[in-house]
Amino acid sequence: MGRGVARVSQSASLDQLAKRIRAKTARVGVIGLGYVGLPLAVEFAKEGLTVLGFDLDSSRIEGVNRGRSYIPDVPSDDLIQLARTKRLSASAEFRALSSCDAIIICVPTPLRKTREPDMSFILSAGQAIATSLRRGQLIVLESTTYPGTTDEVILPMLEAKGLKVGRDFALAFSPERIDPGNTRHTTRTIPKVVGGVTPTCQRLAVLLYSQIIRTVVPVSSTKVAEMVKLLENTFRAVNIGLVNEIALMCDKLGLDVWEVIEAAKTKPFGFMPFYPGPGIGGHCIPADPMYLAWKARVHGFEARFIELADQLNHSMPHYVVEKINRALNGRKKALNGSRILLIGLAYKKDVNDTRDSPAFEIAQALSERGAQVVYHDPYVPTACLNGLRACSVALTPDELKRSDCVAILTDHSNVDYDGVLRHASLLLDTRNHYRHLTERPARLISL
Ligand SMILES: NC(=O)c1ccc[n+]([C@@H]2O[C@H](COP(=O)([O-])OP(=O)(O)OC[C@H]3O[C@@H](n4cnc5c(N)ncnc54)[C@H](O)[C@@H]3O)[C@@H](O)[C@H]2O)c1
Repeated sequence: MGRGVARVSQSASLDQLAKRIRAKTARVGVIGLGYVGLPLAVEFAKEGLTVLGFDLDSSRIEGVNRGRSYIPDVPSDDLIQLARTKRLSASAEFRALSSCDAIIICVPTPLRKTREPDMSFILSAGQAIATSLRRGQLIVLESTTYPGTTDEVILPMLEAKGLKVGRDFALAFSPERIDPGNTRHTTRTIPKVVGGVTPTCQRLAVLLYSQIIRTVVPVSSTKVAEMVKLLENTFRAVNIGLVNEIALMCDKLGLDVWEVIEAAKTKPFGFMPFYPGPGIGGHCIPADPMYLAWKARVHGFEARFIELADQLNHSMPHYVVEKINRALNGRKKALNGSRILLIGLAYKKDVNDTRDSPAFEIAQALSERGAQVVYHDPYVPTACLNGLRACSVALTPDELKRSDCVAILTDHSNVDYDGVLRHASLLLDTRNHYRHLTERPARLISL
């Protein structure tokens, strides 16, 4: 009888949670207010739920509370409005986690120097939750990680004090698929995959995301949900690796890889275009497949496609440097002593994220060979380039003319490319920005 009563009251706390989510009176905690966590927190708050954001970075906490956005996809006006109505606030006061009904973890998952998973951020977020875990809470991990993390790493931490998953609290994994800078597919419109540790966990997590996301895709386990994300990003990394290899081949064969891709993509089935570039960057594509390769290695399996794509993608910055070197040689100039202007430090178009951007490796290799490197990036006013603080230079005719070579590494929308083409004496276009030109001057070279 006593045990029966206890069981009823325990599952009642999760029933209560479901009611609070449906009524939008649930309080949502988001740990990690970066490119993933901030847009998510904003969507829940816009939907009328009260959101507490947790971060260790005081400038980000201040940004949220003062309505100053640091993520281009999130307008400051939204933050001002949500702070005013007290729907969204941020702090580093982790004790407040116990007041949250649902907690979503959006902390970084980088690689260590050894290129193995760095789980320290997930561990510290998990520990902060475990310290104040109570009945009736739903915890969701969103950080991209290897299959097994939710069940093997987070679950034991949360159950350590005797609470039981699926009965006292719920735990799920739901990969984040946001594409920063993409205005067509956004947090609300990108379908969300959700896997729970138990069926109750899955139902609650699906219910939570259904408040803000149009299509929620339930899968049978947290491991499947973790693997879905790694399949998606491994697919990208491998295909980019393949097309980078095709670009290197086309260079040897004297073919224009861009023309080849344009023609190939007219096939209405069985082909999907990927494009070569100066290398891959950002927090996801270079790192995520390595999480999978690591986990596979633990099980005695060698992930050959991943390793090969990683090698190819990492060879691209050196190919770019060699391309500049050859082009300068063709004009009887040496790389040593030349001034090289790099356009675009961010790892991709229209974002301010420079994490793992190949531009840094290119800048370093150029300066190691004696070049003077400057950069222009409308999204990155200052950066640490080759160990020194550098400022984005203005793209004036003078600046363009005095550079021995200008290299477009990232094709942000808000750059005056006509001016660049008019004034640069030698221009390397690694993104095929000038694809529509009918006549290409000899001083314009492509990847
Ligand atoms: N950036 C993307 O495009 C993208 C897309 C999909 C998935 N992801 C994944 O989402 C996760 C987060 O990525 P991001 O780009 O938002 O990272 P980010 O670095 O922009 O944001 C992470 C935030 O977490 C904070 N943080 C770190 N440890 C913390 C802790 N213990 N407690 C509280 N806050 C902590 C950091 O200060 C930072 O503000 C990663 O696993 C990433 O792979 C990222």
